[in-house]
Amino acid sequence: MKTLASLSKAQLLDMEKKLSENYEEFKSRNIKLDMSRGKPSSDQLNLSNSILSAPLDNYMTEQGIDARNYGILDGIDEVKRLFSELLDIPSENMIIGGNSSLNLIYDAMARLYIFGALGSTPWGKLDKVKILCPVPGYDRHFAICEEFGFEMVNIPMKKDGPDMDMVESMAKNDPAVKGIMCVPLYSNPDGTCYSEETVIRLAGMETAAEDFKIFWDNAYGIHHVFKQVSLYNIFDACRRFRTEDRILYFFSTSKITFPGSGIALVAAGDEYIKEIKLHFGRQTIGYDKINQLRVYNYFKNVDGMLEHMAALAKELKPKFSIVLETLNQEFEDTDMLQWTKPLGGYFVSVNTMSHCAKETVRLAKEAGLSLTSAGATYPYGKDPLDQNIRIAPSYPTCDELELAMQLFCICVKLAAVRKVLEYK
Ligand SMILES: Cc1ncc(COP(=O)(O)O)c(C=O)c1O
Repeated sequence: MKTLASLSKAQLLDMEKKLSENYEEFKSRNIKLDMSRGKPSSDQLNLSNSILSAPLDNYMTEQGIDARNYGILDGIDEVKRLFSELLDIPSENMIIGGNSSLNLIYDAMARLYIFGALGSTPWGKLDKVKILCPVPGYDRHFAICEEFGFEMVNIPMKKDGPDMDMVESMAKNDPAVKGIMCVPLYSNPDGTCYSEETVIRLAGMETAAEDFKIFWDNAYGIHHVFKQVSLYNIFDACRRFRTEDRILYFFSTSKITFPGSGIALVAAGDEYIKEIKLHFGRQTIGYDKINQLRVYNYFKNVDGMLEHMAALAKELKPKFSIVLETLNQEFEDTDMLQWTKPLGGYFVSVNTMSHCAKETVRLAKEAGLSLTSAGATYPYGKDPLDQNIRIAPSYPTCDELELAMQLFCICVKLAAVRKVLEYK
């Protein structure tokens, strides 16, 4: 491997000069590109357009309920059956909520904060609540924890999920540790898939807190792109240890059909879901069944959903390939960048040289390329080594993405060379 530090000062200065020229040339083009958020492209959204155009002339649900009227708190049977078969979770244990799983996660935290769970002390009445956060992770999870004043504890992400030795030790020894945030398949941003062993250890581990919760945000549960990775069933794992009531399972169709205009679900163990349903019953008379029917009519069954996901993967594959091939061409055998090679999901996560991520993102922004803020993938926006950047390739067209990646690589190199020059 060619390390930058092994180059002479003259070589580095020469490199810096050439990169600066390339960078200035890009800047003069006044481009405007966005790889900041995991938003589907218009072509992806178009795949779901028949949800909007198909007539909804039969508004009676399978149970004979008029979807236009009040009635049914926890979702129409056909949608619950669809998700139950898709995710292999019992339909009795789920509630089809509104349009957003993040909203359901926020509400789950709020319920624990205000009411506690199954008789335990409300988290809001405790001096300290700690939530384990595998890092890098999803900024909006961290924002929720921060708003409730929960102390977030960084847990390094390994190839097969969070560092379980650390998770087990913290959960066992500290009663203030009340939960863990998990995106178990194609995680945001690493694309990490939790192994069977990880899921079983999470289900079976000893916890000092009786009301420990696993926030199982399976946002990318069917988002296979290069290969289908299967996730060990958390309900099966927890049943084995009689720990079902530590599960809080979330899923939505946001990254499947229309973000923010789909349907979301929360599921929990037998006892806790009963309590959650009581709270839901006070919060709402019922969610939007018309939207539930539209989504169901579009997919019809699990095969329909999987066919749709295959079409989605066809859109995403070339984009992931552009990112991965460009990084390979530009950085293989260098110490300037390391990156994940996800098999699905929406993101590629990169690590620059230490203390270069912020500068890379700044350079990119100045030249017209928006990236997720450096630090966003860590609790409190604090990436200890200032090295992680999340790349979201779904939104731009392939042509735009090629251009964006060229610029991105220049920015990574420029930030790295300048950093090494500081010490020469
Ligand atoms: C891990 C994760 N959870 C939740 C969400 C948001 O989902 P929703 O639109 O259902 O709130 C996202 C969106 O990017 C996500 O990446």
